[in-house]
Parts: sequence; C-alpha cells; structure tokens
Amino acid sequence: MRLTLLSALLLAGASLLAGDPAKDLPKFQGGDLQKYWNDACARCHGFNGNGRDNSGKPLPDSGFDFTDSRKANKKKDSDWVKVTLQGKEKMPAFKDKMSEADVQSMIAIMRKFAAK
Ligand code: HEC
Repeated sequence: MRLTLLSALLLAGASLLAGDPAKDLPKFQGGDLQKYWNDACARCHGFNGNGRDNSGKPLPDSGFDFTDSRKANKKKDSDWVKVTLQGKEKMPAFKDKMSEADVQSMIAIMRKFAAK
C-alpha cells in the first residue's frame, strides 16, 4: 500500500519534470490558424515546422520535419488530415479541438514550411 502510493508520487513527479507536451492542448476557437499552430502544434513540431525549438535544439516529440520538402511532398493532404484528426502514436488526436475544415486549412500552413 505504502509502496503503491510512493510509486504513484514518483510517477507524478517524473511526468511533471518531463513536461507532457500533449497536456492542456487548447481548442481552436476560430480565427488565425498560424496562431493556433504556434499555440498547439509548435510545442512538438516547432514554430518553423522543423521539429526544433527557437535555439535550434531538436524537440523530443517532433515526429516529422515539415521543412524536409523531399519527404513532405510525398505525403498526401488526406493523410495529414487523417493523422491530425485521429492522432498517431505520440501525435495527439485533434478531432475534439478542430473541425475537419479547419484541419484542411491547416494543411496550407504545413505545406508552407517545406516551400521556404
Ligand atoms: C505532443 C506532441 C505533438 C503535438 C502537440 C502535435 N503533434 Fe503532430 N506529430 C507528433 C508526432 C510525434 C508525430 C509523428 C507520428 C508518427 O508518425 O508516429 C506527428 C505527426 C504529425 C503529422 C503527420 C506527418 C507525417 O506525414 O508523418 C501531421 C500532419 C501533424 N503531426 C500535424 C500536427 C498539427 C496540425 C498539430 C497541431 C494542431 C500537431 N501535429 C500537434 C507530435 C505532435
């Protein structure tokens, strides 16, 4: 009993220290999708879509480099819509946070990272 409590405390402490990037993801309230990228997606994918923080350090849960045009150009819009709505592995599902139409519009922002 005491051990369970201790390990629960340790687990809570560890996740607090690690900082869960999928925690407290805001809901899209309409308006500026670029701002929503910064608020909800950049914590994992980076402000520039390259999976790095502002000092150029790789983010732990980036998963995909949107600036890699060779790779990004092979991806279909429909696949990106699906992953964003339904999630995949460490990528959280956004179906409760954005409408499918909003995700469709977000594709343009993701495509722009590779075009730069
Ligand atoms: C908690 C971290 C996290 C957040 C927040 C996050 N993502 Fe992801 N995303 C990932 C990871 C990790 C992957 C790779 C998933 C895999 O393939 O296993 C991924 C993959 C993707 C892919 C598929 C890329 C590919 O072709 O392989 C898209 C599209 C995507 N994310 C869009 C978004 C959008 C849009 C947002 C914000 C609305 C967002 N993500 C927020 C972690 C995150």
